[in-house]
Amino acid sequence: MNLCPKCHHQNPHSSNFCNNCGNKLSEHLGVASDAYESESKSKREAERRQLTILFCDLVGSTPLSQQLDPEDYRNMITNYHQVAEKVISSFGGYVAQYLGDGLLVYFGYPEGLEDAPKLSIQAGLGILDAMKLSNKDSSSKGFPPIQIRIGIHSGLVVVDDHLALGETVNIAARLEGAAPVNGLVISPKTLQLTQGWFNVESIGNVELKGIAEPLEVFQVHSETGALTRLDIAKKRGLSPFVGRESDLKLLMEQWKNSKNGKGQVVLLHGEAGIGKSRLVDTFEANVMDDANSQLIIARSSAYQQNSAFYPLIELLKSEVFKISNKLNEKEQSEKVISQLNNLFPDDIKFISLILEFLSIGNTEYSPLMVAPVLKRQMWMDRITQLLIRIGNSNPVCLIIEDLHWTDASTMEWLGQCVQAIDNQQVYIITTTRPIDAPAWIKLKNVTVQYLERLSVDETMKICYHQTKGKDLPKEILHQITIKTEGVPLFVEELTKMVLGSELLLEKEDTYEVLGSIKDISIPSTLQDSLLARLDRLSNVKEIVQMGSVLGREFSFSMMDLMVPGEKSETLRALDKLVNEEILYIKESGSDAVFQFKHALIQDAAYSSLLKSKRQQMHLQIAETLELSYDSLTMEQPQLLAFHYTEGGNYDKAVPLWLAAGQIFSQSNASLEAISNLENGLSLLHHINEKKLRNDYELDLLLTLGGMYIVSHGFPHPKVKETFNKAREVAQRTEISPKLALIMLNLLSYYMNTEDYKGHHALSKHMEE
Ligand SMILES: Nc1ncnc2c1ncn2[C@@H]1O[C@H](COP(=O)(O)OP(=O)(O)OP(=O)(O)O)[C@@H](O)[C@H]1O
Ligand SMILES: [Mg+2]
Repeated sequence: MNLCPKCHHQNPHSSNFCNNCGNKLSEHLGVASDAYESESKSKREAERRQLTILFCDLVGSTPLSQQLDPEDYRNMITNYHQVAEKVISSFGGYVAQYLGDGLLVYFGYPEGLEDAPKLSIQAGLGILDAMKLSNKDSSSKGFPPIQIRIGIHSGLVVVDDHLALGETVNIAARLEGAAPVNGLVISPKTLQLTQGWFNVESIGNVELKGIAEPLEVFQVHSETGALTRLDIAKKRGLSPFVGRESDLKLLMEQWKNSKNGKGQVVLLHGEAGIGKSRLVDTFEANVMDDANSQLIIARSSAYQQNSAFYPLIELLKSEVFKISNKLNEKEQSEKVISQLNNLFPDDIKFISLILEFLSIGNTEYSPLMVAPVLKRQMWMDRITQLLIRIGNSNPVCLIIEDLHWTDASTMEWLGQCVQAIDNQQVYIITTTRPIDAPAWIKLKNVTVQYLERLSVDETMKICYHQTKGKDLPKEILHQITIKTEGVPLFVEELTKMVLGSELLLEKEDTYEVLGSIKDISIPSTLQDSLLARLDRLSNVKEIVQMGSVLGREFSFSMMDLMVPGEKSETLRALDKLVNEEILYIKESGSDAVFQFKHALIQDAAYSSLLKSKRQQMHLQIAETLELSYDSLTMEQPQLLAFHYTEGGNYDKAVPLWLAAGQIFSQSNASLEAISNLENGLSLLHHINEKKLRNDYELDLLLTLGGMYIVSHGFPHPKVKETFNKAREVAQRTEISPKLALIMLNLLSYYMNTEDYKGHHALSKHMEE
């Protein structure tokens, strides 16, 4: 159904104009068009991002153009472009360029799409189907068929002024050439991001022009029919269900109340990936075990938000009347009529309303002639009655998934339904990501349940499921828990990424760390959804990016110094980010402190910035902080040192790392001191002035040696190594008074390790 915004008339999906008043209707799948039309036209800062690129081209365009009259050829090409574009925009794609007869299409830009790779393949299959139909039509007019090939690849690009640059684009274009005629192929990367959604077949390793290594290419045949991410996870083996005892208990209690005729509604509320669907799925198993209960599921869709009553229409078709699209219209209407006759005998009006609601034509039950607004209300009433009547025989549980994507009409119906089921055997569980609270949550039969993050122990159980029980190195486990902060989806994806990376080497019953844990980045499976979350913030995105450079937490006053504009504007932007659950207020008060709710969101915002831009922002932050906070250099030199390092000003950074090391050493915080001093040492080679470099090195090594004594004790090899290095530096320069201190420490080291030979040699050397 396509609801007319002017007269509220329900039009069939295919209508572009209202059948009642002639008003232009919005395209219900027009994600690419309406949602970011304005943005797509405006200049946007260059950014790094993961993008999925579809390239679609004609096969044999030259012979075709020779075969046809130029005007007919032009018409055919225009038609092909129109057919393809319609499908592309319906899946959220953006036609970036026409390359000859080919189309270069982005999924995930200008607007991030949560599942861009999946949508791109659906669009590709859709184009192939649509061209088949279009060819049938043109062959009836005596024209030859148009044949196409499609290639899809996902990867990192830099998008500058709406043009993606990087190898990803070349690979997508080259892949297209590897596809069979009227076929669609994808790269291993796109396959990895869409595992489980499509039936694919490897067509082997293919050499692609201009690409160094041959690439395994996969042809996509069809969709597997999986409806949700959870369906796919189930096939691969779900993580053991952990925690959520009290949430599950609440769901069961309210189910019991509903079965006793006190219809209840539970709104499960929580961020993406927190486990709403999994909780409902676990609850479902209990209902399904009960032969005297019924369970029906309605799903909202991100791409049907402008389609009035979409989840209800699908619910009635697939779950209530069980009519598949394979049945013809007559068979469909017969099924609906016979079931309605059982539930509401002789209610002709009811039947005709429901048939019209489902856009199923039947000459015996013609649509009622009433005002559109009235009809809409009649539909809503009838659906509620239907639900109640179904519940009269056996208690019914209706699950409505993803309320954050539900269209306004279904939302309105839900508000009315919640009141109507108060004394009925109907139970509604609905899940949602953060939304503005609907008014009906205040009704007495509604419970709102917020899903909390999992505990560290629960998180570890999910990790161990992925490792099949094998122990992960402590530092890796620690990184996974801090980066994912109890969001099970993040835990699963990050663990999978780490296990599949070169960071770890699998041994018989453990793993060995090979690389640096700093290399743990955002899993590509989460990139699209994180970027989509950031893109939705459009006008406050810059604040998020600045925040990501400032650090995991920052104060209001710091942010205010960094961004142009009024204080009130900055505050409003931060408020919005708190509402969107991107940030939370860690400390309130006159100078509130904000923290990113997720390390991964911070990482996503940070990595979307060009490297050059990041560097510039770090430098701006360091300089502004140094100027504005007198005491900062004394109190937190490491903060300035960090921003100067990332900003590329090493002359400033090195002495600040040294100062930080010295401050921590005074309070014997040896671990902190060591890491600050090591940072300073690692940057020394950037200091050009020799004397200065030697002075810094000597001080850094002396303090570091002292800290090794504190943390590891005198007889540790690091002590000797560090003071020996310091001795070299001191001797390289003029004889410094510091040399005496170095020698003293080395002598103590030899004493403590009972290395009398070493002690003797050094003493002799000193005498000379
Ligand atoms: N309690 C849990 N124990 C173990 N695994 C869990 C738990 N909760 C969720 N998961 C796993 O985490 C992943 C994400 O969960 P789920 O799909 O339920 O999130 P969601 O909140 O519904 O997200 P979205 O808002 O995107 O729909 C799934 O693979 C699921 O199996
Ligand atoms: Mg879900």
